[in-house]
Amino acid sequence: MGKPASTLAKHADALLNWVDERLPVLEFWDAHLAKYYAPKNFNFWYYMGSLALLVLVIQIVTGIFLTMHYKPSAAEAFASVEYIMRDVPWGWLIRYMHSTGASFFFILVYLHMFRSLLYGSHRKPRELLWIFGMLIYLLLMAEAFFGYVLPWGQMSYWGAQVIINLFGAIPKIGEPLTEWIRGDYFISDATLNRFFALHVVAVPIALLGLVVLHIAALHQTGSNNPDGIEIKQNKDEQGVPRDGIPFHPYYTVKDIFGAAMFLLLFAFVIFFWPDAGGLFLEHDNFAPADPLVTPEHIKPVWYFTPFYAILKAVPDKLMGVILMGCSVVVLFFLPWLDRSPVKSIRYKGAWYKILVFAFAIAFIRLGMLGMAEGTPAQTWEMRVWTFVYFAFFVLLFFLSKGGKTKPVPDRVRH
Ligand code: HEM
Repeated sequence: MGKPASTLAKHADALLNWVDERLPVLEFWDAHLAKYYAPKNFNFWYYMGSLALLVLVIQIVTGIFLTMHYKPSAAEAFASVEYIMRDVPWGWLIRYMHSTGASFFFILVYLHMFRSLLYGSHRKPRELLWIFGMLIYLLLMAEAFFGYVLPWGQMSYWGAQVIINLFGAIPKIGEPLTEWIRGDYFISDATLNRFFALHVVAVPIALLGLVVLHIAALHQTGSNNPDGIEIKQNKDEQGVPRDGIPFHPYYTVKDIFGAAMFLLLFAFVIFFWPDAGGLFLEHDNFAPADPLVTPEHIKPVWYFTPFYAILKAVPDKLMGVILMGCSVVVLFFLPWLDRSPVKSIRYKGAWYKILVFAFAIAFIRLGMLGMAEGTPAQTWEMRVWTFVYFAFFVLLFFLSKGGKTKPVPDRVRH
């Protein structure tokens, strides 16, 4: 028989106090959860951040187990992944969780970023939060790229070939730079070894550090919300924002519900559609890397294809690389490109709705075209959408200052 609950509770309390005198856990709990006031009108879009955190944890945990059986050598990598899939107990589940997790990570992050466009979350005073987000996004792309090379399938090999060769377009330093990245004259065992080190150690550490900074910056300014109103500007006598509710228990419960729904969908894909018809795991990657046989149609995984399409839209390789670089870099400047006096799309005029809609369609169409074979008609279409993609930022800068807006209420509504 165990001790009565009250005695146990007393011991637990004593332990907590003992720890708290040495480490400010209660203060942390209050500052970031129980007395952290978040706007009361969070909606669907506000699930994505906590879900991205959940997927980050899933990727790290499944990654640790994969590393126990994976062999980072050109001779053994492909076979070790097959071994994980067929012989390691539950290995197939761990591997599919990791590969599906990568795609879900990008789905969540793209929705998370799009929310900013809707509600102006990147606007003052949250510019630094946005910059940390963008750095996370860059690292996530690097992490996904390195990870994709590890199974050493045909597309791992040839995809890496195409991406690394892009650096070769840089005048003068291009060639030595690609050699430096590969650690060899061609993609080889040395390349695989360093990509493994970067994928399992360096990038995850940097990612975790940036996520901590991202949340710290968020808690400094407080969350934005669908109305784009600063709740800190309207506080009661106790200094509590009138439109705020404690994060715990209200949003912990909401986020747990979101996580449960997400895990259902995640499990469904893992069990019934893990390759997503070639979208999450490409068919060519089920064949081992062969430096002598080029796959007919080399293309990156779906989450890179919008940028890949921008690259392919330009006939000149160097110009294509520059334009592709610009298409990512320009996102860093978003907080300063939108000069509208209001943050949320709810109080902006039709001009903003049209711009955001066109931008979203351009991004999706570019993504689809980046996966296609690249017929002349498709190349022309890529050019049109590339133009729309960049026009969004230019028009945003010029239209946002004087563009029509609606009156913003004092208090958040829904
Ligand atoms: C590993 C990836 C990421 C994680 C774990 C993460 C986590 C979070 C969390 C937990 C929140 C608060 C909840 C929410 O608003 O949804 C948040 C807010 C935010 N994140 Fe991220 N984030 C990630 C990537 C990004 C990226 C790539 C960007 C943009 C480039 C970004 C921009 C923002 C912004 C602007 C907010 C504030 C939103 C608001 O208050 O309206 N995040 N993030």
